[in-house]
Amino acid sequence: MRKKIIELIEGRPDLPPLPEVLLGLQKLMNDPDCEVEDVYRLLKTDPVLSGHIITLANSALFGSGKETTRNLEDAVVRLGMQQVIDLVYALELPRTFRKSKAFDQVEFWKHSLAVAFISRSLAKKVLSDPDDWEASFLAGLMHDVGILVLDNIIPEEYFKFLTLKDLSSTDQSLEELEKDHFKIDHSEAGAMFMAKWWAISDKVNSASLTHHKPGSAQGKTVNLDQLVSTANRIANHYGITHPVMTAFEDPPEEGYLDNLGISQEDLDIVIDTTKIGLLAAETIFRSN
Ligand SMILES: [Fe+2]
Ligand SMILES: [Fe+2]
Repeated sequence: MRKKIIELIEGRPDLPPLPEVLLGLQKLMNDPDCEVEDVYRLLKTDPVLSGHIITLANSALFGSGKETTRNLEDAVVRLGMQQVIDLVYALELPRTFRKSKAFDQVEFWKHSLAVAFISRSLAKKVLSDPDDWEASFLAGLMHDVGILVLDNIIPEEYFKFLTLKDLSSTDQSLEELEKDHFKIDHSEAGAMFMAKWWAISDKVNSASLTHHKPGSAQGKTVNLDQLVSTANRIANHYGITHPVMTAFEDPPEEGYLDNLGISQEDLDIVIDTTKIGLLAAETIFRSN
């Protein structure tokens, strides 16, 4: 099965391309002459997307809570280029993949968005490289995309795999079960797909590939891969899980708060903000 899955990923059987608007934004991002006005002009051509951008820009995930953005131009100016890209990815990716027969994609994206927000919230506190800060949101958002890749390229087999036994009472982790069954897991499948077709940065790809490897370790400097791994464990630990979880416990590493150099109060604020922000995001996702 591994060989077939790799061939399907490489051959791109109806897997979605990156949405046009994201390609356009990436192009502007790489253009040194790009101005905020250009970004605004690109986004305003899609009124539905523009409305959603304003809503999410005002949510706890992107708003400071102090000012309210009433129009698209204000939102773009306030957020700046990187956050606009992060936000449009968060809105566009859930519309990109075909709906799953096996699970609720909205719950999947809520988990992904939570890991994105937690990663970004902690990045400036624990990582020193500004490039890692910039990549932290997308790395979290895309860490589990391999689940959607498998669900899209082998829908019948993946549906059978997910429904054959009661996953929620299985002690093995999802990635172990995938490896037993398909000889490839969603980390590898997702990273392979993105590297080949989505022109995503190596940092984002690497975090997806390693997100089930150990996270922050005591006494060691944390890198982006480990931060995303820990953010994933934190989201799961606080009940913001994706819909195909098994009963396998994968808590954050012992002493993770000390390893990250943050207090429980800091983390509580991040988790509360995540949960409030997800309410706004869910309303948008369910309207798709
Ligand atoms: Fe995962
Ligand atoms: Fe995850």
